[in-house]
Amino acid sequence: MNQAQWTAIDDYFAKHYIGDDPVLDATLASQQAGGLPDINVSPNQGKLLMVLAQLVGAKRVLEIGTLGGYSTIWLARALPNDGKIITLEFDAVHAEVARGNIANAGFAEMVEVREGAALELLPVIDNEAGGPFDLFFIDADKVNNPLYMQWALKLSRIGSLIIVDNVVRGGEVLNADSDDVDVQGTRRVHELLANEPRLMSVALQTVGAKGWDGLAIARVVS
Ligand code: SAH
Ligand code: DHB
Ligand code: MG
Repeated sequence: MNQAQWTAIDDYFAKHYIGDDPVLDATLASQQAGGLPDINVSPNQGKLLMVLAQLVGAKRVLEIGTLGGYSTIWLARALPNDGKIITLEFDAVHAEVARGNIANAGFAEMVEVREGAALELLPVIDNEAGGPFDLFFIDADKVNNPLYMQWALKLSRIGSLIIVDNVVRGGEVLNADSDDVDVQGTRRVHELLANEPRLMSVALQTVGAKGWDGLAIARVVS
């Protein structure tokens, strides 16, 4: 198996299960025009996020790592009209591109892009006490994933879903001695997910248009 086949199958699935999607095409075009990195979730992964959000009946979503709003738009599509997404983005240019894309997708009201370092924004969100979030998508700097995980737990309710992207690190996740802080953050998050009694967790490796990677998914059970 090779990347060309993984991409071809991903394209085939996307063609069948998603079809034409001018809004998301425009989002990707604007990311490219703005010089943003090409690291959004794939179309099929985006639709998986949407289906998972529908499954938990999500009304409130917290995303950490917005980029150009591609995953945000998929999540927004799962929400009722009075739903709410807060998405956190460190980079001012990314946040601006995301706001444009989210507005173009019709979700300007539903989605709030907050600019800044997630670890500074999360305590503010906690203080607002706007009620728990039903779904978390953790997809920013991997070194901080253990802390994001703990914030998600704190801001959750029983039944909330926590999704962590990019949990394979090109296989380096096996390397306990890695000096890559993102690998170490990812290893720690797997330990947290596996050992936290309040969570029912699973991790899955994936191949597709974005290569070999994986997702961890945890349900808050107590
Ligand atoms: N979820 C997006 C991809 C996010 S890429 C999608 O799938 O479409 C990761 C993003 O996290 C980048 O835009 C990066 O600028 C942002 N980021 C990195 N470190 C951050 C931090 N400490 N706080 C908030 N955002 C951060
Ligand atoms: C990177 C980040 C991501 O969130 C992703 O899905 C793929 C790659 C990165 O930083 O390289
Ligand atoms: Mg990611």
